[in-house]
Amino acid sequence: MQSIISISQLSKTYESGFKALSDINLDIRRGEIFALLGPNGAGKTTLISIICGIVTPSSGTVIADGHDIQTDYRAARSKIGLVPQELTTEVFETVQATVTYSRGLFGKPRDDAKVEAVMKDLSLFDKKDDKIVTLSGGMKRRVMIAKALVHEPEILFLDEPTAGVDVELRRGMWEVVRGLREAGVTVILTTHYIGEAEEMADRVGVISKGEIILVEDTSELMRKLGKKQLTLILQEPLDAIPDSLVAYGLDRSEDGTELVYTYDTQAERTGITRLLADLSAAEIRFRDLQTEQSSLEDIFVSLVSDKR
Ligand SMILES: Nc1ncnc2c1ncn2[C@@H]1O[C@H](COP(=O)(O)OP(=O)(O)OP(=O)(O)O)[C@@H](O)[C@H]1O
Ligand SMILES: [Mg+2]
Repeated sequence: MQSIISISQLSKTYESGFKALSDINLDIRRGEIFALLGPNGAGKTTLISIICGIVTPSSGTVIADGHDIQTDYRAARSKIGLVPQELTTEVFETVQATVTYSRGLFGKPRDDAKVEAVMKDLSLFDKKDDKIVTLSGGMKRRVMIAKALVHEPEILFLDEPTAGVDVELRRGMWEVVRGLREAGVTVILTTHYIGEAEEMADRVGVISKGEIILVEDTSELMRKLGKKQLTLILQEPLDAIPDSLVAYGLDRSEDGTELVYTYDTQAERTGITRLLADLSAAEIRFRDLQTEQSSLEDIFVSLVSDKR
C-alpha cells in the first residue's frame, strides 16, 4: 500500500541535551488508523510535533503526502490536522466562531457549509452558539477535533484523544475516528491504553525511550494475544527434558521444578491432552498446574522493559 507519511532516520535531541528520538523509520499507510503506543516520556508527542512542524528535528526527514515537512512546510502542514495533547483554545469564543477561525488559519476561504458539516459530524451542532468554557471536557475535545478537521486535512493526528475521557465518551470518540477513516482520512493516534490500540487501530507501533521497537498489524498482535501458557509444578525436579517431550517446546525453570507449555487458544488442538499423556508415560508427575493468558499488555510491558 502507498504510504502517506514517510519518516526516515529521524532523531531529536532537545537543547537540554536530552535525546528524545533516535533513528525513527516509519511509514504510515494511506487511509489507515495507526496507533502509537508507549509509556509517558517515550517520545510520542515529540514525534507528532516534528511531523506537524512545531519541533525541528535534529536529523532525518519526514515526507507528508509528498511534501517535505521542512523544505515544503506550508504544503505539508495544509495536509495535516492536529489535535494536541493539551487542550488549548479560546475559551470565551463560541464553538462556531472557533471552528470557523481555524479554517482561516490555513488560508482556506470561508465556507460556512463546511463548518456546519464538521460540527454536525462531531455532534457539536446543538452547541454551536455555546461558549467553549461551558462545555464538558469530552465536548471540548470534540471542538479540538472539529478545529483540526475544518481545513480538510488528509492526515489527522490525535495526541491522547481519550485521556481523561469516560468510557462512554471514549466509545463516542472511537466512532468519530472510524467515521473519519471511512471518509478517507488517515488517522494517527497516540495512546497509553493497549485496549484502545487494539480496538481502534489497523496497525500498532510501540515506542519506548525514543525508539520504535515494534510495528505490527493489530490482528497479528491479537494472534499473539491468543497464546496461553500452562505451567506444571512438578513433584520431583527434572534435570533435563526427556526426548519424548522435546517436540512440545517446553520451558524448564532453572531449578527444574516447573515446566511451561505455550499453546494457541485459537488452534483447533491445543495439544494439552497428548502432553499430559506423554508426561505420564515419561513418569513425570506434577502436583499442581496453572494456566495464564499472555495478554497484549504483557507483551507490551516485556517489550518496553527489555529496553530499559
Ligand atoms: N522541550 C523539551 N526540552 C527538553 N526535553 C523535552 C522537551 N519536550 C519533551 N522533552 C522530553 O522528551 C521526552 C519525550 O517527551 P514526549 O512529550 O515526546 O513524550 P510522550 O511519549 O508524548 O509522553 P506522554 O505519554 O507523557 O505524553 C521526555 O523525557 C520529555 O521530558
Ligand atoms: Mg505526549
